[in-house]
Amino acid sequence: MIVRFVGPLASKIGKEVEISIGREISVREAIEKIAEAYPQAESDLSDLSFYSISLNGELLKKDELETRKVRDDDLLILIPAIAGGGKEKKIKLIIKRNFDISTPSYDSFEGKYGFFTKLALEMRKRIESAELILDVGCGTGILGEIFPDSKVVGVDISSDMVRVARTRLYDALIGDGSRLPFKNNSFDAAVFNAVIFLIPDGENALRDAMRVVRENGAVCGTYLVGLYENGNEVLEEIGLRHSLPFPWRRAEKAIEELGGVTQELTFRVGREFVLDFYSIPAMSNALFPKMELEKRLELVKQNLSNLPDEMDFVWRVFQISV
Ligand SMILES: C[S@@+](CC[C@H](N)C(=O)[O-])C[C@H]1O[C@@H](n2cnc3c(N)ncnc32)[C@H](O)[C@@H]1O
Repeated sequence: MIVRFVGPLASKIGKEVEISIGREISVREAIEKIAEAYPQAESDLSDLSFYSISLNGELLKKDELETRKVRDDDLLILIPAIAGGGKEKKIKLIIKRNFDISTPSYDSFEGKYGFFTKLALEMRKRIESAELILDVGCGTGILGEIFPDSKVVGVDISSDMVRVARTRLYDALIGDGSRLPFKNNSFDAAVFNAVIFLIPDGENALRDAMRVVRENGAVCGTYLVGLYENGNEVLEEIGLRHSLPFPWRRAEKAIEELGGVTQELTFRVGREFVLDFYSIPAMSNALFPKMELEKRLELVKQNLSNLPDEMDFVWRVFQISV
């Protein structure tokens, strides 16, 4: 069996190796054999949810690691689900871990306010017709209902989000928005609903989305700007900052350079909404990073009670023609 590696595994093992397996075995067993043959890569291979795995050019679903068999003449490719290195990779891992524990509160926030649905409807206005849509950072898969006449394929860095999204979308897989595990020109549109600001190398993510969208297709998305009252940033006024791995000004510049257009969206929201929003574990991390979850949630409650009764939640919607 020929095995190809991309990223850190390629530097540890080599770009391509040949492993003799003899009889037919499952993909998971084949990967265990690789870990045995290359102990320097054992820890990298201990959690396969971090990889997109393709067998003879076909991307495997997570549950197929047990059911699909490989033989000596097969080609297996292991692509790390998280792109980049150093600081970017660290940020992505923190985001992944935080969204992994955010699934229930994310869904209950959405059930109470339908807020991400409102944002998604703004994107829908900008997509004429699309049979196949890529939903980058699909979360729990709310876009399935927004585009009922399309096949929506989700990709998300959080395995827990993907697990839920699989029940609502045509398909969903684990992957990093800035290195999409898809061929060029595979989709009619790609969307990033409330996602791009979480991707530290957001420029790469936008470019990669354009790569996988066919000619005359579209890349759309929504991104957070901030909370304002009377022109003032309300979090700043209470001594806080929502830290964005890909700040909105950088997003705006990147979208403009790619020929895209943006439009501002303002939602009038109450203090309780903001408190619920920042009580989602992943959102609390944006205000109080590097802290235990319990402490963060306590600080959210304490600090946000000082916000005005109502304020403007400002977002933008963008659209890039491919
Ligand atoms: C605020 S949620 C939005 C979810 C969904 N788009 C929606 O509208 O409900 C952001 C999602 O982006 C995902 N995400 C963050 N960074 C990502 C990355 N680099 N690649 C793919 N997904 C990412 C998170 O795991 C999370 O599910």
